[in-house]
Amino acid sequence: MRVLGKRDDGYHELDTVLQTVSLHDTITFERTDDDDIRMWCDDRSVPVDKTNLVWRAAAALRERYSISHGVKIRLEKRVPAEAGLGGGSSDAAATLMALAFLWEIEMSEDDLAQVAESLGSDVPFFLYGGTAHATGRGNVIEPLEDSPQKHLLIIKPNASISTAKAYRTLNRSALTSADSKPILFRSQASNFSASIDQNALQNDFEPVVLEQEPEIERAKNALLKSGAPAAMLSGSGSAVIGIFDNQDAQERAIQAIELETGWRAFPCKTVGRDRYQSVMGAAGEIS
Ligand code: C5P
Repeated sequence: MRVLGKRDDGYHELDTVLQTVSLHDTITFERTDDDDIRMWCDDRSVPVDKTNLVWRAAAALRERYSISHGVKIRLEKRVPAEAGLGGGSSDAAATLMALAFLWEIEMSEDDLAQVAESLGSDVPFFLYGGTAHATGRGNVIEPLEDSPQKHLLIIKPNASISTAKAYRTLNRSALTSADSKPILFRSQASNFSASIDQNALQNDFEPVVLEQEPEIERAKNALLKSGAPAAMLSGSGSAVIGIFDNQDAQERAIQAIELETGWRAFPCKTVGRDRYQSVMGAAGEIS
């Protein structure tokens, strides 16, 4: 993930590759005849009011298309929050797709993408899934060919990172320092290969986030020590992803990895676009 610099609108220009994985939340929608949006979540630490992106996605659709129906939404949360995994953004995208269907809204792909990007920079990606090149503030999506399936081990250390705070830290520590040129320069030479080579992976958030939260660096090192050929901070963190050539190597790492108190481990794999779209279209389960 390359952060190219700050834009006039206050966001940062990005150049990155995004990938859907099998770790997911489950959301159930039930159309109602009143005009309320009611929401439940099995995780009590997750807000179920207008501060939740799912609620805001439903409200945005209802307002834009003057919908007179309501909805009951049940969210089963598994993707950790403030981890840089896009959990909230993927929930929001799923909500848009589900409610466009349930509320029988006729909307073009462009309309859907517009509502999606008004909710968050990385929400549009989750309308497509698979592997994609993202530019702009992360909202301009160019689908790429699926890369071969990879097995992953995601570690969520105790530290939580808010995206806005991570960008602010990045500004203070890197973009505005003498190092800003190397960041901008390195960003030109993007490598979109599906390589599992540690040297081919780059995330401009890593140096600043790992320095600020040594626990995250320990999580990355634990993955490498457990046999992951490559490991990287996910987005702005705090989750770290270990990438494996095959399931055997992933399973050996699950046995070998030394987790500190409170760390959570999520074994999963990459999900290609066809699989993602068929599951989202059929509103089924990703496995
Ligand atoms: O777009 P989203 O709501 O996910 O962004 C959360 C925050 O992260 C923004 O308010 C902004 O501070 C920061 N951000 C950024 N540049 C981006 C994406 C996000 O500065 N490309």
